[in-house]
Amino acid sequence: MQRKWWKEAVVYQVYPRSFMDSNGDGIGDLNGVTSRLDYLAELGVDVLWLSPIYRSPNDDFGYDVSDYRAIMDEFGTMEDFDRLLQEVHARGMKLVLDLVVNHTSDEHPWFVESRKSKDSPYRDYYIWRPGRDGREPNNWRSVFTRSAWEFDADTGEYFLHLFSKRQPDLNWHNPEVRERVYEMMTWWLDKGIDGFRMDVINAIAKAEGLPDAPHTDADGYGWGGVHFLNLPKTHDYLQEMNKRVLSKYDIMTVGETGGVTTADARLFAGADRHELNMVFQFEHVDLLDSGPGGKWDVKPWSLEDMKTIMSRWQNDLYDVAWNSLFFNNHDQPRALSRFGNDGPYRVPAAKMLATFLHLLQGTPFIYQGEEIGMTNVRFAQIDDYRDVEILNLWQERVIEGGEDQELWMQRIYAKGRDNARTPMQWSASENAGFTTGTPWIAVNPNYEEINVEAERSRPDSIYQYYRKLIRLRKEHPVVVYGKYDLILSEHQQIYAYTRTLGDACWLVVNNFFAEPAEFVLPEDLRGRVDAAQLMIANYFVDSTESVRQFALRPYECRVYSL
Ligand code: NOJ
Repeated sequence: MQRKWWKEAVVYQVYPRSFMDSNGDGIGDLNGVTSRLDYLAELGVDVLWLSPIYRSPNDDFGYDVSDYRAIMDEFGTMEDFDRLLQEVHARGMKLVLDLVVNHTSDEHPWFVESRKSKDSPYRDYYIWRPGRDGREPNNWRSVFTRSAWEFDADTGEYFLHLFSKRQPDLNWHNPEVRERVYEMMTWWLDKGIDGFRMDVINAIAKAEGLPDAPHTDADGYGWGGVHFLNLPKTHDYLQEMNKRVLSKYDIMTVGETGGVTTADARLFAGADRHELNMVFQFEHVDLLDSGPGGKWDVKPWSLEDMKTIMSRWQNDLYDVAWNSLFFNNHDQPRALSRFGNDGPYRVPAAKMLATFLHLLQGTPFIYQGEEIGMTNVRFAQIDDYRDVEILNLWQERVIEGGEDQELWMQRIYAKGRDNARTPMQWSASENAGFTTGTPWIAVNPNYEEINVEAERSRPDSIYQYYRKLIRLRKEHPVVVYGKYDLILSEHQQIYAYTRTLGDACWLVVNNFFAEPAEFVLPEDLRGRVDAAQLMIANYFVDSTESVRQFALRPYECRVYSL
């Protein structure tokens, strides 16, 4: 297997709006990020990925870009960015930016021009269609509710927006659009950034003729993913992008690709495909606790499904492509509340989830606050929420649809994206030390207990555990390159696996539940127990205890080198 720096790296995702506010306007900013680089260097991460920092009217908090070559006013200036980049590099770290090119903001000059007239030279930068029988051109549903089409009275046509109506989709079939995107990417790479995380990059190509979604729901719309996700054309575009831009730099690329199978991922991220380094797959976060009704149809997750999904990704990509490893990001509720425990076992559960994830094969991504065990939030009122997805849904289902408020609040508590977007908890002082002003979204009230200052001062904290975990990766190639094998596949409570590289064999044992569990080492590994050495664990382990069999406490994890 080829060695690569981005396989050995640990990435830290910053959601700049909620990370650190340097000027008291209640919104995080670039100087805020710069001021916390020493903290990130101490944590030991290698790469920072910043969610979008470009100029934006913030309908979707930066995922609606109005100028790709300018910094969002609230975040600072290009000088601030240049200094941030320089300071990141001075600490031996790398900086990856979000690339949002499936769509722009409706305030992007391309779209402003495009909507002016059917003859505009920019018309074909977006996807415009006449209506069909007095309705939208097809039945596609937008991710942020109802039709993916918006009627524009000025020219009497509809434009496509897979996300909010303020996020019109770019027309990637137009070579001029691709050209403009490649120029812009080159401009940033020449500035010295170290890669891109590519927003919904598997949706850039749309099927010829824009056919209807196969099923239409009661409201007249349906999920048209088969007509815009993972189409063969997408691979043509990415290969073109790779040839024109990516291949010229030693960078890291990760595509956000909801709805990919391992077969798709092998195409996007196959070592010989010349597209991307890796993709974010979502089976473990989209499927595990979602019922047939989708994301908001919340159901309990099962360890069996977790094993099936994670093992499939580990096995199917082995030696052909490379996994990204994540539980958290700015779109997901906090994994600790979701798959772990945010009550009495918060600390061991956070460490266990981290151990489980970082010991798999792939590049681990830490989302801000994960390293201190931040949890979901339960705001009392809908007015406390800020996310366009939540607010649109509330409008449609509760206000217009008359559905039960309490039911929807519970769903938002479980799945809402704002769970991940409350301000980073730096200290026990006012607003968690995030801002001296009024935060744009309220701080999670548990900041007095859960914060960076407290975590740094405690030797057995979640934060110190993450530091150790990251160090292990640097010191032992088996953590990066070892082959994954699931063991005890039938166990109801324990998720255990081995990693093997040459003579090295590591055993990773995780109890995913609050109930104690009994671990028994499989027969074929018993020959190795004499040399067993404990590498990391989230509880005190007596050194005389046998590896052949032991009792795991609530959420206990252990990693042995056998
Ligand atoms: C995925 C991003 O992660 C999410 O935050 C955003 O709303 C959509 N793509 C649209 O850009």
